[in-house]
Amino acid sequence: MLGLNVDYSTKIPNNIGLTEDRRVLKALEGWHPGYIDWWMDMGPEGFQESLVYLRTAVSVDPKGWAKFDYVKMPEYRWGILLAPQVEGRTVPFGEHYGEPAWQEVPGEHRAMLRRLIVIQGDTEPASVEQQRHLGKTAPSLYDMRNLFQVNVEEGRHLWAMVYLLHKYFGRDGREEADELLRRRSGSTDHPRMLGAFNEATPDWLSFFMFTFFTDRDGKMQLESLAQSGFDPLSRTCRFMLTEEAHHMFVGETGVGRTIQRTCEAMKEAGIDDPHAVGKVRALGVIDLPTIQKKLNLHYTLSLDLFGSEVSTNAANAFNAGLKGRFEETKIDDDHRLSNATYPVLKLVGGEIKRVDEPALTALNMRLRDDYTADCAKGVERWNKIIEKTGVDFRLALPHVAFHRHIGEFRDVHATPVGEIIADAAWEKQKEQWLPSASDGDFINELMKPEFDTGKFASWIAPPRVGIDNKQGDFEYVKIAA
Ligand SMILES: [Fe+2]
Ligand SMILES: [Fe+2]
Repeated sequence: MLGLNVDYSTKIPNNIGLTEDRRVLKALEGWHPGYIDWWMDMGPEGFQESLVYLRTAVSVDPKGWAKFDYVKMPEYRWGILLAPQVEGRTVPFGEHYGEPAWQEVPGEHRAMLRRLIVIQGDTEPASVEQQRHLGKTAPSLYDMRNLFQVNVEEGRHLWAMVYLLHKYFGRDGREEADELLRRRSGSTDHPRMLGAFNEATPDWLSFFMFTFFTDRDGKMQLESLAQSGFDPLSRTCRFMLTEEAHHMFVGETGVGRTIQRTCEAMKEAGIDDPHAVGKVRALGVIDLPTIQKKLNLHYTLSLDLFGSEVSTNAANAFNAGLKGRFEETKIDDDHRLSNATYPVLKLVGGEIKRVDEPALTALNMRLRDDYTADCAKGVERWNKIIEKTGVDFRLALPHVAFHRHIGEFRDVHATPVGEIIADAAWEKQKEQWLPSASDGDFINELMKPEFDTGKFASWIAPPRVGIDNKQGDFEYVKIAA
């Protein structure tokens, strides 16, 4: 099938016939050196010369699209890969519902579309910047390889958005593409666009929580952009989602293996009480209450990424046919939401109440609910791991009013079960719910690198299967290449 295989003969691998599109090829070749400079400055620190066992896309066919090999990260073949065009595709929602999907930018919605692409694009390099110091404390070569795989793919996702900007937006697209290389995570004068992407990722548990919770926000955003009536955006996002699945796998299994090791160590030492934090920590593992606090932090930072519960921007993007709902085409309704309502949690007279809002303006809330349901399934799988070891403890997602900086609950304090409390009560108890400085210090002490082939740091269990079915002693990263 045409467009499935990737052309590696050009400097920029692609499945979109870039050699025939001289203008865009030239623009991307012009952007390339700046990208490499950015990668050398802001990419994984200390491992740019190492040989890493990475997967590279060779096809966009969902079955068997990747090939594995050793590669130095700066030589990774970042390509432009779009899912195959679906013949006869129509705009699946909004005012233009049922019209043929657009192959060119719809003029009236140009600014909104560009903004959606730039916001998505900005998150991709941000996470690479946030994670750049982690290689040095990797708990194994297996984990180090997974970190670098996520990093190079986030780099590729930046390419994906930059391609759309260069191909469809002319001069202002070029300027936006340059700006994407100029902003920096956590910078005071040039920060990344969204809050969670300016937070530090100081340790490996944070990294795993980030890939579980924040990459999953990415998945939800990509899912809704994959519904877009602007077909090139839809096709780009559909392929990105196949890569995103691995990022969430890294997060879920990373946290899962941490939990597993903690519970095993407790059992071996005969400790039954999961709240005996000091005793558990003395075993060189991360106690479950601290894991819950990390979960609370990363889940709530990620909830903020969905924006305000009630939003006219979200309604406009839907009406315009640019950004749909999660699994839009599987939903059985008019796909215009003319008269529909959706229940939204709001703060009414100091109390949390469920209020019916027009479904159009409640789209952020709906996507966030879908996200929460998806997170909850993963948390249940973690609880299964705990249960199997016989330890009496359950992890839970906190209430959506807890620890929020955006939306309905940004001005109040709530407990993890959703009780509104006074500022003083919050100050007194917040260290029971969110990681404290001393929790951070403890985790940092544990972050001793383990670079021996097939070995793992004290606080994390080995994976059940290797990457690309490799055996346990496989050298995933040849550090001193
Ligand atoms: Fe991404
Ligand atoms: Fe990702």
